[in-house]
Amino acid sequence: MLEPEIAAHPLDLEKIRLDFPILKRTVHGKRLVYLDNAATTQKPQQVIDAISDYYSNYNSNIHRSVHLLAEEATEAFENTRLKVQNFINAQSTDEIVFTKNATEALNVAARCTTSSLKPGDKIVVTEMDHHSNFVPWQQIAKEKRAQLEIVFTTEDYEIDESDLESKLDGAKIFAFTHMSNVLGTINNARKFTRIAHEKGALVVLDGAQSAPHIPVNVQDIGCDYFALSAHKMLGPTGVGCLYGKRDLLLKAPPFLLGGDMIREVHRDRTTWNDLPWKFEAGTSNIADVIAFAAALDYLTRLGMKNLQIHEQEICKAVLAELSKIEDLEIYGPKDPERRGAVFAFNLGGIHAHDIASILDAEGIAIRSGHHCAQILMEKLGVPATSRASFYLYNGYDDVDALSKGLHKVREVLN
Ligand code: ALA
Repeated sequence: MLEPEIAAHPLDLEKIRLDFPILKRTVHGKRLVYLDNAATTQKPQQVIDAISDYYSNYNSNIHRSVHLLAEEATEAFENTRLKVQNFINAQSTDEIVFTKNATEALNVAARCTTSSLKPGDKIVVTEMDHHSNFVPWQQIAKEKRAQLEIVFTTEDYEIDESDLESKLDGAKIFAFTHMSNVLGTINNARKFTRIAHEKGALVVLDGAQSAPHIPVNVQDIGCDYFALSAHKMLGPTGVGCLYGKRDLLLKAPPFLLGGDMIREVHRDRTTWNDLPWKFEAGTSNIADVIAFAAALDYLTRLGMKNLQIHEQEICKAVLAELSKIEDLEIYGPKDPERRGAVFAFNLGGIHAHDIASILDAEGIAIRSGHHCAQILMEKLGVPATSRASFYLYNGYDDVDALSKGLHKVREVLN
């Protein structure tokens, strides 16, 4: 197991891999090379143990009963909130709302920001947004008869800044991704937030792909809302978080109505609970929120800066290896400092699903399809891509396996 004081660059992959039981298994008789981390990451033993510990030792509902088990569960649940606050440097735990995933977090943000939207108001998104940060805005725009503007992506796979500047004129909301789940592009969130604020727009930042891979400081970025997803950063599925500036969350209407989110209920009226519980109706996903703390501890001990440096090294290796493969096109920035270690690509005319199937037979797990980004696929002029995405337990041996696997794809299909 990792010791707090030994986390340092370079990452000790041999040691890290021992923490992930799934990496011991084989797939079709081959070593598992797990390169589908943008979809979900594997879980270290510490996270698995935390779930089991909760159900074995203090399973109870939270915020309701006064017995010891309930107090222990409530304390552990709220402790995760504090860790999320520290992880993204929010000002207070009031600003951290637990949801079931990043999609729900973005939907909550959309409802918070659009309650006062009027017909003709402008909402701005980008071509590289995931459906979860596109579809809610598209539908709200229809509902409110607002205008939806979509900022272009450049040929270098970056947000087109001059288009952004002009589309932000008069905008009320700017929603965009911090790191593209397809292109790997890391957007300059701080700069774009400043521009949006100067134009009077609120900023909703999708951090589902950034929070797992790079240090995030929401106060430094200045965004108004930030969404993340636990399962993409070593945590369990079923947990997302929405960060929202306190004054905005205070003014916003609740998202779901029911138990735990109320202060008082009368026959003719109801008042809302304090922040952040106003946004957490019903029994939460207690076990998984509690276990998410173990994931945050793991990443913190490792050091997000160390992790970022590790992934930049992986990026260089992947870009170098894949450039040797004839007819392979990578959709994303070439500069490792401008991107995360997620690589969408096509190989000649071979269908992305065929590539994924042949790699699977070699024990290599990647994703193929539109990656919940059909607007971007349309822009790239392709129906689908293959996508290999790396994380902290991936090393040069995995880059090598991917490269050999892709040569095999060529062999098999030629
Ligand atoms: N949003 C996840 C992905 O990009 C599921 O694969």
